[in-house]
Amino acid sequence: MKTLRVGVIGAGGIAQHGHLPAYQKTPGMEVVAIADINEKKLAYVADKFSIPRTFTDYHELLGQDDIDLVSVCTPNYLHREMSINALKAGKHVLCEKPVAVKGEDAKDIMAAAEASGKIFMGAFCQRFGGASQVLKRFIEDGKFGDIYYVKGGYIRRRGIPGLGGWFTTKAKSGGGCMLDIGVHALDRMYWLMGAPEPVAVSGTTFQAFKDNAIDGGWPPLDSRVGDVFPGINDVEDMASGYVRFANGATLLIEASWAGNCEPTSYTQLFGTKAGALEDSRGLTIYGEEAGSLLDIQPQVDTRIDTFQAEIAHLADCIRSGKRPLTKPQEIINVAKIIEAIYKSAESGGKQILIADL
Ligand SMILES: NC(=O)c1ccc[n+]([C@@H]2O[C@H](COP(=O)([O-])OP(=O)(O)OC[C@H]3O[C@@H](n4cnc5c(N)ncnc54)[C@H](O)[C@@H]3O)[C@@H](O)[C@H]2O)c1
Repeated sequence: MKTLRVGVIGAGGIAQHGHLPAYQKTPGMEVVAIADINEKKLAYVADKFSIPRTFTDYHELLGQDDIDLVSVCTPNYLHREMSINALKAGKHVLCEKPVAVKGEDAKDIMAAAEASGKIFMGAFCQRFGGASQVLKRFIEDGKFGDIYYVKGGYIRRRGIPGLGGWFTTKAKSGGGCMLDIGVHALDRMYWLMGAPEPVAVSGTTFQAFKDNAIDGGWPPLDSRVGDVFPGINDVEDMASGYVRFANGATLLIEASWAGNCEPTSYTQLFGTKAGALEDSRGLTIYGEEAGSLLDIQPQVDTRIDTFQAEIAHLADCIRSGKRPLTKPQEIINVAKIIEAIYKSAESGGKQILIADL
């Protein structure tokens, strides 16, 4: 098996606590280079993970001929530029979520991937969780019938990431909780329901905690070496969206960084033959058999390291030429739906047609 050589761009929280440990645990993968504009953090991470080459300019990392694959682990506004440049440099790419801030940016990345012939994967690690995998299998086996309504969310009580840094600066993040964690819940639901064509979206956003916001502890404090937090907070801390699809199905998504609410992460599916609820208490499938209502609680593997599973899948795709689990149109549509939620919220709740974006 040929060793896949990896370069990581961005040495922050997700690189240190997600990508780097996962690459190190995956046989046949070796991180050979890392880039970050923060020299202090770069030196700290290179030393901690024994990475031989460091760059403050990511273009130099992309110029390393022996690198096969690049992880893009930088603030959201850089994903488009870095992914496209990496693909143009002949690298496979694993780009963190949200892959793009706008639908058009996602389209540009997918076009660059297509032109390069390289693999591009969106880092939607939650698809690899035990419950997601079980649910997808049930759905693909036809056990749910037609899925007509899906509802889900990612709700934190006091969890604003990097308060005052890029996460809360719209010019760098593109948005708050919907783009940051709502995107995980939306991507998982959209994939589970079979990625129908979105037609119309409405949404709302709130910034209820602007004046009493509390840093939620992400990126982990030990990973913030040399970071500067200018103190900006101009993004939403709660958002919700309602999506209509061409096949008649609808979806409700909610996301909260901060709220006086029960923290949870959940997905609820309504199908003509069965439904399901997955949350912190586990997974239940609500069906009917022999005239009785039947609740099934499948055994779910809760030990899966979703970052490792995602990276193992990517390595398999690179080696076998298989298409990654995150399909281009899914990535584009997830970006468009979130763009439309923000547009609707800005317009006071107007319905936004996806065709008009
Ligand atoms: N999959 C998940 O569950 C998950 C969790 C957290 C974060 N993320 C995503 O990962 C990405 C990074 O988030 P994070 O939490 O690691 O943030 P972070 O702030 O901890 O790290 C980002 C790093 O990028 C570096 N950087 C900024 N500009 C750069 C440039 N021009 N060149 C090279 N490096 C540059 C910063 O110096 C910083 O070290 C975001 O897109 C975020 O949404 C994903």
